[in-house]
Amino acid sequence: MSPIKVGLLGLGVVGSGTWNVLKRNADEIARRAGRRIEVVAIAVRDLEKARALVGDDVTLTTDGMDVVRNPEIDIVVELVGGDTLAREWVMEAIAQGKHVVTANKALLAKHGNEIFAAAHERSVMVAFEAAVAGGIPIIKAIREGLTANRIQWLAGIINGTTNYILSEMRNRGVSFAEALADAQRLGYAEADPTFDIEGVDAAHKLSLLASLAFGIPVQFSKAHVEGITSLALEDLQHAQRLGYNIKLLGITRAREEGIELRVHPTLVPLQSMLANVQGAMNAVLVHGDAVGQTVYYGAGAGALPTASAVVADLVDVTRLQTAEPEHRVPYLAFQHNAMSDTPILPM
Ligand code: NDP
Ligand code: HSE
Repeated sequence: MSPIKVGLLGLGVVGSGTWNVLKRNADEIARRAGRRIEVVAIAVRDLEKARALVGDDVTLTTDGMDVVRNPEIDIVVELVGGDTLAREWVMEAIAQGKHVVTANKALLAKHGNEIFAAAHERSVMVAFEAAVAGGIPIIKAIREGLTANRIQWLAGIINGTTNYILSEMRNRGVSFAEALADAQRLGYAEADPTFDIEGVDAAHKLSLLASLAFGIPVQFSKAHVEGITSLALEDLQHAQRLGYNIKLLGITRAREEGIELRVHPTLVPLQSMLANVQGAMNAVLVHGDAVGQTVYYGAGAGALPTASAVVADLVDVTRLQTAEPEHRVPYLAFQHNAMSDTPILPM
């Protein structure tokens, strides 16, 4: 079978990781997808940057529209970030009938309802495993593995940068600023790291998880959001003396009156699993009525872990794109159900 053709928007931390994984595991990926996956065009901001990894058979451009309108391309992978150009390019890709894979939680938290509706209209898939918890397959777990359950609540560490900062401060006495600079150097932080440290990135992700878990629209703007900027080393030390660690948690819970949607620093008992999640690792607990409590743990940020999720989506979309739309695993965050109109509770 001929290769499926892919256009990449962005070749930074996650884009380069994706390119690497597609090259290093090309044969296994082709076997699992049923076809080879071939990147034919990439959009970047700076054409002069050295890109040792890209050969002459790939077109480089600074205009993402060249990629999304390229008739040869079947799947567009958006790894640029932000919610302006990324939105225009993703909406145009959908209008062109192309499937989309994205790691961009800021985009989906803000424009997800519009994007998923447009995708539904055009019968294309929008896959976003990499947008939440890096390499942990949490979207697949909620959408597929736990599909028999009514999810009652989920809670977890869903931002690697802040967990890295808190771990470095507590374990090694590193200052907040130094730990943040390290997280940026290691490729964990957002282009605007205030999204990480103010809890916004975690709230973006939580609003997507809540949408999947409860079948509600994406409602980031209604989330309660507090970050870690007011925490000092003394707070962490005090907490430890009392038998707790402080973690930035995202929590969503279905109650009679409505749905809780909140991100804030939380005291967690030292002996609990969440208290012992270190560095840029993430962990999510999901409680379903049939299964009880389940735990998902792994690298929450960084080039290769995130690429693992991007390429998994590419394989899924490649496999499913020949199926009738109604037979595809629905790549929609929001599936209408009895809870769809449940309000988000004010804090
Ligand atoms: P980077 O900043 O490392 O990469 C961004 C890429 O987009 C670069 O290749 C850049 O080009 C390109 N780009 C930026 N602006 C433009 C533009 N105007 N036109 C064309 N190309 C442009 O970001 P990341 O790889 O870290 O993040 C990408 C996405 O993945 C974001 O949505 C982020 O939230 C998400 N994400 C990131 C994770 C991580 O661990 N880093 C984990 C999970 C999700 P150039 O190379 O020329 O600068
Ligand atoms: N900045 C994000 C984090 C990247 O630190 O978790 C992964 O989504």
